[in-house]
Amino acid sequence: MDNRPIGFFDSGLGGLTCIPYLMEALPSERIIYFGDTARTPYGSKAVRTLRNFSFEITDFLAAKDVKMIVIACNTVSATCLAALRERHPNIPILGIISPAARTVARICDETNRIGVIGTKATVRSGAYRNKILKFNPALDICETACSALVPLIEEGIIQNEIMDMSIRYYLDHFIAYNRIDTLVLGCTHYPLIRKNITKIYPDVSIVNPSEEVLSSILDTLAAGDLRAAEQTGEHIFYASDLSENFVAMINRIFQNTGFTVVFKNFELGDIA
Ligand code: DGL
Repeated sequence: MDNRPIGFFDSGLGGLTCIPYLMEALPSERIIYFGDTARTPYGSKAVRTLRNFSFEITDFLAAKDVKMIVIACNTVSATCLAALRERHPNIPILGIISPAARTVARICDETNRIGVIGTKATVRSGAYRNKILKFNPALDICETACSALVPLIEEGIIQNEIMDMSIRYYLDHFIAYNRIDTLVLGCTHYPLIRKNITKIYPDVSIVNPSEEVLSSILDTLAAGDLRAAEQTGEHIFYASDLSENFVAMINRIFQNTGFTVVFKNFELGDIA
C-alpha cells in the first residue's frame, strides 16, 4: 500500500481526459497534475525541446514524491518515453501509446481500416504505427496530423461550428479516401471533441487512449503494491500559466464528482 499521489502531465488540458477513468476505478488515489499551459501546443515542437520540457516537469513531479508518473500526452510518450525512464529509473513512468496499441491489435483484424490522428510530432514519430504493428503486423494503419485542433480546444472552442469545420477540414478526405472504420484519438485533447467526431462520422468506431491507459496504471499499481489504502487529501492541479480556461475546464470535468480540487500556478523556467 502506498498513499503517495500519482503524477500526471500534459502540455495543457488534454491529460485531464485520463483522470475520470482513474477516479472511477480507484477513488482513493490522489493526483498531482501538471499542465504546461504556458508552452502549449507541444505537437509542433522539436524533440529536443519536448525532452527539455518533459525533463523539467518530471523533475518537478519527482520532487513532489509521486509514486508513479503517467505521461498523459501522446506527443511526449511518442518522443521522450525512453529518455524519461532513463532519467528517473526509480519511478514507474507510463506512456499512453502502448495500452491503446494493444487494444487496437485486440479488437481489429486485417479487414479493418485503422486511422490514427494526433499531433505532427506524434505522427512523424511513427510510434502508433510501430507499436500496433508490433502487436499485429497484418493490420492496415493510416495516420494524419490535425495540428489546429489542440489550440482550439485549449481556447475552449469545442461545441460549435468552428470546431466541426476544423474536424471536417482534417478528416473528411482522410476518412473517406482511406475508408477508415476505426479511429484512434492519438492526442489526449481529442476525447474533448469526441462527441463532435462521432456526430460527423457516426459509423467510425473510436479508440480512446486516455481510457486505455487505465489498464497499465492498474497493472503497475498492482505489480508494485502501490495502491492507496485511503483517500488522504485533495487533488492538486498545477499549470505553468493558470488561465481562466484551464480552471473552468477542470471545474467542468470534475463537477458533481465530489472531488476536492486545488489549483496552483507554477512557472517553469524558459529552457527551450
Ligand atoms: N495532448 C497532447 C498529446 O496527446 C499534446 C498536444 C499538444 O500540445 O500539441 O499529444
